[in-house]
Amino acid sequence: MENSREFPEKTRGLAVTPPMGWNSWNTFGTHISDALIREMADVMAEKGYRDAGYEYLVIDDCWSLRKRGADGRLVPDPEKFPQGMKAVADYVHSRGLKFGMYSCAGVMTCGGYPSSYGHEFVDAQTFAAWGVDYLKYDFCNFPAGADCKTAYITMSMALKATGRPILFSACNWGQQEPWLWMRSVGAHMYRSTGDIQDNFVSFRDIFRSQLKHFAMNGNYCFNDMDMLTVGMYGSGNVALGEKCTDTEYRTQFALWAYFGVPLMLGADLRNMSPFCRELTQNRALIRINQDAECRPPYQVYQGRPQYGSTDWWTIPEDSALAFVRHLSGGEFAIGLFNLSDADGQITFPFANAGLPYACGYGLEMKDVFTGEDLGVQRDYLTPEVKARDCRLYLARISRL
Ligand code: GAL
Repeated sequence: MENSREFPEKTRGLAVTPPMGWNSWNTFGTHISDALIREMADVMAEKGYRDAGYEYLVIDDCWSLRKRGADGRLVPDPEKFPQGMKAVADYVHSRGLKFGMYSCAGVMTCGGYPSSYGHEFVDAQTFAAWGVDYLKYDFCNFPAGADCKTAYITMSMALKATGRPILFSACNWGQQEPWLWMRSVGAHMYRSTGDIQDNFVSFRDIFRSQLKHFAMNGNYCFNDMDMLTVGMYGSGNVALGEKCTDTEYRTQFALWAYFGVPLMLGADLRNMSPFCRELTQNRALIRINQDAECRPPYQVYQGRPQYGSTDWWTIPEDSALAFVRHLSGGEFAIGLFNLSDADGQITFPFANAGLPYACGYGLEMKDVFTGEDLGVQRDYLTPEVKARDCRLYLARISRL
C-alpha cells in the first residue's frame, strides 16, 4: 500500500500488560543522583528484578535546576547529575532497562522545580532527545482556571509528536475520575489516589477506594494505585505511621499483583530484605499480574442466601473479601483478603463464584504462596486467614 509509510505495521504498543519497574520517590525523595540511579540499574539487572519483569527505572521529582536554561529547556541539576541525563539514560539502557523521568502539568513540580504547563512540546522533545521511555506527569501547582483534561491531552500529544514511544504515566491523584477518560487521551496508566504511605491503613484504604473502578483497568491503560512500599520497613521518604510487618507487605504486594495494576517498586532495592526480594520476584504472583487478558476480578458474595443464612462469615464483609479472576488459558486466580485486624475465616462458596453445587464440576486448586496442592475442591472453602493477611490460589475447573 502506498501509504504504508505513514501508517506503519501494527505494533503491540506500550503497556500491553501492567507496567513494572522502580521509582525513586518513596525512598529517596530529593536525594537522587547519577550514582544512585546507576547503582539501582545494576541491582535491577543483577539481583533478579529485571528478569522478573521490572523494566522501567524512573527518576521522580527534584532532578532539575530551579530555573529553565536560556533556551527554555529543563536543565538537570549538575550536582546531582554531572554528566547530564542522556548519560544516565544510556547507562540504564545498557543494563537492559528502560528509563523514566518526571514532570508536572502545573507551573512548578510539587518540589518547586520548573514544570511543563505551557512548555509541553519542548519538554517532550527534551525527554525524547535524552532517550526517555516513560514520563510520569504530576499535578501540583496547576493554574486556577486551567483545564485538567486539556493539560493531560496536551502532554499526551506532545509525547506522540516526538515520534518516540514514551509510556505516559499520568498522575493527577484521581481528580475528575481519571478511570473514565485517561484511556481515551492516550495515558498508559493513571494515578487514582493521593500518595501512598508506608503503613497498612494507607494501602488498605487506597485499595478499597478503587474496588469499584477495576472494571476500567485493562490492557494499555492501567489504574495506578501508586508505587509499592514493600520492603521500606519505615525508612525513606513516605515512611509515615506504623511500620509494616512482612505479612502486611505480602498483602500489599498480593493486592497490587492480583488486581492487575502497575508494579512500581519504591524501596531501596540495594538493601531489600530476603523476604521482600523473594515476594516482589514471586513468579506466580507476577504471572497473575501480567496475565495477557488483563481481566478484573469479580467479588464473590460470602453468604449463602440459598440456605437462608448469612452467618457464615466471621469478619465484616468489607474486610473479608473473596474474588475470582479469570486468567488466560482456562485458569483462575482466587484471592481471599482479610483486611480486618482480627483473625478469622473467609468463606468462598463455589455457587456464588459460578459453580453451583449440582453442576458436576469443582476446582483443582494450588496455594500460590505455599505451593501446596489442594486437589479438587467443591461446594465451599473456609480457610482461616489471619488479620491483615491473604490467601491466593490458582485453579482450574475439574469434573467431579
Ligand atoms: C506527588 C506524587 C508523588 C511524587 C511527588 C513528588 O504529587 O503523587 O508520587 O511524585 O508528587 O513531589
